[in-house]
Amino acid sequence: MADDGVLLYAVAGCLFRVPDGVQPPKAGSRFFQRHLRVSPGERVLEIGAGFGLTAVLAARAGARVVATDVLPAAVAAVRQNALLNGVAVDPRLGDGYAPVAGERFDLICSNPPQMPTPPGRDRDDPLAAADNGGVDGWEILDRVIAGARAHLEPRGRLAFTIFGFLGRKAALAKVEAAGLSPEVVASETEAFPRIGYERLDHIRALDAEGALPPRDPPRSVERLLIQGTARD
Ligand SMILES: C[S@@+](CC[C@H](N)C(=O)[O-])C[C@H]1O[C@@H](n2cnc3c(N)ncnc32)[C@H](O)[C@@H]1O
Repeated sequence: MADDGVLLYAVAGCLFRVPDGVQPPKAGSRFFQRHLRVSPGERVLEIGAGFGLTAVLAARAGARVVATDVLPAAVAAVRQNALLNGVAVDPRLGDGYAPVAGERFDLICSNPPQMPTPPGRDRDDPLAAADNGGVDGWEILDRVIAGARAHLEPRGRLAFTIFGFLGRKAALAKVEAAGLSPEVVASETEAFPRIGYERLDHIRALDAEGALPPRDPPRSVERLLIQGTARD
């Protein structure tokens, strides 16, 4: 039998197995995991959990975590990685809020696919599921934001990442329009993603807030963690 190796990721005292077909940790995953604040006893929903990095660490911090993904391999990986690290996570398969209909949470969080994808360039493989955020990058984010209020407890929080070129002001306005009090809780500068160079003209055309240099190839991108808090 061929030995194809095993991809392992160790962080914060936990060890994760990253199976084929599930995206390995990227800069955005590490940013999201480092800055997300979770309290013991909180009921947490992560939409698009991948191999379970944030979900497992939230469970280890004492949260009760439901972790969803559209990829069966990701749901299986979350289950395995929770077991490997001795924590309980409830992994569920499905799109957006479909796996948690009628349920409410103290924290809904997501580092969703958000790379703007030129028309006709979308695919249906696992890497596309992890990266592609529709033509303007907001396709999944918009659904996560729009559905949050109905799935949050009073004073509950929604937290999600965005690339700066999607628009800081646009993100805050979308959160406000969804009935949540918006704020930027963290930001960092990351290397410009390789896939972004392939789509640079398309991304520049969407960059209404001027986050990217107008002519030179960008070397970096700002990443933001946006939070919205339910007002009642
Ligand atoms: C950028 S990856 C992030 C994975 C992980 N949360 C992390 O930070 O490393 C996005 C994840 O969302 C999943 N996904 C894509 N579309 C989804 C949807 N409509 N509903 C739920 N999950 C989705 C992908 O399969 C992928 O695992």
